[in-house]
Amino acid sequence: MLKKAALAFAVCGALLAGCGPKAPAPTVHASMTQVIAPQAQTIWDITNRAYNDQGDGLDPKKISAGDWTRLETAGHQIRDGILVLAREKKRVAAEPGVKIEGEEDPAEPGAKQVQTYLDADPKGFAEHAKALAAAADTVAKAAHAKDAGPVFAVAGRLDSVCDGCHSRFWDPESPQPPK
Ligand code: HEC
Repeated sequence: MLKKAALAFAVCGALLAGCGPKAPAPTVHASMTQVIAPQAQTIWDITNRAYNDQGDGLDPKKISAGDWTRLETAGHQIRDGILVLAREKKRVAAEPGVKIEGEEDPAEPGAKQVQTYLDADPKGFAEHAKALAAAADTVAKAAHAKDAGPVFAVAGRLDSVCDGCHSRFWDPESPQPPK
């Protein structure tokens, strides 16, 4: 036990950035563009390529060892990325001056507007974030076990998990989640 603590201390000393005062959480914009969207795309790309002939499931023969690893990594990254935002007390839509997707169009919500949605319902955001974390965790665990069934099931409903949060915190006025 003591040894472990000493080791942790040594590691902290070596990697100051990882310990010490907590690094600020990324903005929602940064998390979406750098982690959530690209990793979700990885899941969709791999699963779209691996449909069976009936189109009602995945053919594990079409999923390479590398694909399973990429699926597992994508699941972990989405889960961990969105949980960082879930745990924040106050989320920041975007860095000052950064325009979010669609903001050039005056009819679309900008970062300032999204910030008001985020501030109005922090608990609701956390719930949506946890739903995505659970879905991503299912992908990671199933990919680790090379179990195509749950990967197929989650990949098929993942966009509705994204849209559930988007329709509330990105463009709540719109009946259709933004594309
Ligand atoms: C818990 C809430 C939540 C979940 C879940 C969520 N998002 Fe988002 N997302 C947001 C919010 C809020 C915005 C608008 C603010 C912004 O763009 O930064 C956004 C914006 C985006 C953007 C535009 C980013 C930009 O500004 O250029 C993309 C792309 C995106 N999300 C992808 C996804 C995908 C893919 C998923 C599902 C795998 C997902 N999101 C799940 C909250 C969420």
